[in-house]
Amino acid sequence: MLILGIESSCDETGVALVESGMAAVPLLRAHALFSQIDMHQAYGGVVPELASRDHIRRVLPLTDQVLQHAGCRLADVDVVAYTRGPGLAGALLVGAGVACALGAALERPVLGVHHLEGHLLSPFLSADPPEFPFVALLVSGGHTQLMRVDGVGRYEILGETIDDAAGEAFDKSAKLMGLGYPGGPALSRLAEQGHAAAFKLPRPLLHSGNLDFSFAGLKTAVMTQAKKLATAHAVPAEGLPLKVLADLAASTQAAIVEVLLKKSLAALKQTGLNRLVVAGGVGANRELRAQLDTACARMGVRVHYPELHLCTDNGAMIAMAAAMRLQAGVQLANRAYAFDVKPRWPLDALNLA
Ligand code: KG4
Ligand code: ZN
Repeated sequence: MLILGIESSCDETGVALVESGMAAVPLLRAHALFSQIDMHQAYGGVVPELASRDHIRRVLPLTDQVLQHAGCRLADVDVVAYTRGPGLAGALLVGAGVACALGAALERPVLGVHHLEGHLLSPFLSADPPEFPFVALLVSGGHTQLMRVDGVGRYEILGETIDDAAGEAFDKSAKLMGLGYPGGPALSRLAEQGHAAAFKLPRPLLHSGNLDFSFAGLKTAVMTQAKKLATAHAVPAEGLPLKVLADLAASTQAAIVEVLLKKSLAALKQTGLNRLVVAGGVGANRELRAQLDTACARMGVRVHYPELHLCTDNGAMIAMAAAMRLQAGVQLANRAYAFDVKPRWPLDALNLA
């Protein structure tokens, strides 16, 4: 069965073709991605209306590209999957509208997919796919959650952020250091040249005794530190000497990574599971991966990540999540092409009975 997946929840248009039924794990046949980063950079963040318009421009050419790579025709597609939420409403509507129009034209069923389920299942696209059950650390631009995952549609949220997400902490800290958007990759690159112990920054909720996170206070602490340094050097924060900015970046990254690491280890202990899956954009962070690898090796825990290029948003994870939901017995509605999107959508609302 060939599943076309369309992702358009934020600032990346992703299209992919996944084949299921041939092997135990569905196979990625082709995928294509267009990142809007250059367009939003001028504004320091995602402009929702511009994002929607660009998805409209990109989605069909990307679909053609994917079909061509896979050597398939549109008529070969059996199911059209799209990101139904969470995300930006207008951006989601583009993918949903195109998916349902394609479904109607081809007389094929469509399936709305949860974006975070896509991230969560994206490591199944890697050469070393995980096995259920596992603990999942889901760290994206909008979400930070620890989950127990017993199978497709069997998700128990163990803890989550009570304010900002880890990706937001990276992005907002980077922005006030003048590192542009999206800040995570830029901040982590700069951090490689700095000392992680240079500035003492808070580790919010580290000893809270539960698995919840909070990153809003850390962002404020970074801002206060940046202001102090700016005053001392008589320059705006973004004009600080590179070495000082690198130290601040490394200290910020260290605080975020330590909290994510300790809470993940606590979740593994609490559940007694010995497998960890890390997914979402922040899962691309090298320091996080290095520290998780070391700590988990010591504990005899296997860690699984998506391929680096599939950590951030993409269509492959949407087609994959659809394929795995279908394998798990989710039924497709025939000729049902009315669509809605869910800008807010809790992941455990997906649980199969
Ligand atoms: O999963 P994702 O692509 O989009 C959402 O669903 O939100 O995650 C994007 C987030 C952004 O906050 C970005 O700064 C962060 O992932 N990110 C990183 C890195 N690469 C992406 N954060 C830290 N280090 C990275 N290397
Ligand atoms: Zn995402």
